[in-house]
Amino acid sequence: METALVTGAGRGIGLALVQQLIESGYRVIATCRGEPSPALRALESSSQCQIEQLEVTSQRSIEDLAQALSGVTIDLLINNAGILGPNNQSLHQLDPTDWLQTLAINTVAPSMISLALLDNLKRSANPRIITVSSDMASFHDGGSSLLAYRSSKAAANKAMQGLALELRSDGVIVCPVLPGWVQTDMGGASASETPEESASGIIKLAQRLTLKDSGHFFTWRGDEYPW
Ligand SMILES: NC(=O)c1ccc[n+]([C@@H]2O[C@H](COP(=O)([O-])OP(=O)(O)OC[C@H]3O[C@@H](n4cnc5c(N)ncnc54)[C@H](OP(=O)(O)O)[C@@H]3O)[C@@H](O)[C@H]2O)c1
Repeated sequence: METALVTGAGRGIGLALVQQLIESGYRVIATCRGEPSPALRALESSSQCQIEQLEVTSQRSIEDLAQALSGVTIDLLINNAGILGPNNQSLHQLDPTDWLQTLAINTVAPSMISLALLDNLKRSANPRIITVSSDMASFHDGGSSLLAYRSSKAAANKAMQGLALELRSDGVIVCPVLPGWVQTDMGGASASETPEESASGIIKLAQRLTLKDSGHFFTWRGDEYPW
């Protein structure tokens, strides 16, 4: 049985990933900050699900998690936790502290979590790191709204591309993945994909990735997406 770890598992895409990974036969380590949501608690009754605390911006919290999981094999790490950032992201009103917080959660945390759990991943015969990204990360998409969010996801993509190169000799596959426009608190009710559709696509993609794919940017449908 493969083990997956999902960050930001209390709601949205993260919760759907945990549900569907359990259904697909994975053992799942579901992380959340604070009290787990009732929906996540309900999944814990399955013997396949273990809930752990993780505030992704806290290095202490990341190290505590790595310590708690010492000796545990992780086959699939999904860096899902993320925020849209402050309400006002227009160039002239963007608050630098809010921008830095967005970068801490969306950009720095996925790299620090991946590095902290590297020993766990290296125990796997087929280790994969997926970081949930966005079409707004793409330089191909010339939009200028949501500057903090766009820049944080673009930087996360670059960090994952670098990590893919660094970890290739260890056999660790690293890919940023676009989840679609998803009906969550972040995506809103009029988004086109359900969390289940998005999660199912991400899991199917994760299952077929090979080292040849590492360092490439994919969509939840499994197609490559332009940087
Ligand atoms: N929805 C979309 O259309 C869409 C599109 C493109 C990309 N994405 C990306 O998909 C991922 C999931 O988004 P979503 O739509 O599911 O959003 P969501 O419903 O707002 O959920 C975000 C999740 O991230 C967690 N989180 C935020 N900050 C955290 C922190 N500092 N430490 C630990 N956990 C934290 C939240 O935990 P709490 O419950 O504790 O706040 C929550 O579980 C994000 O990376 C997002 O950027 C979403």
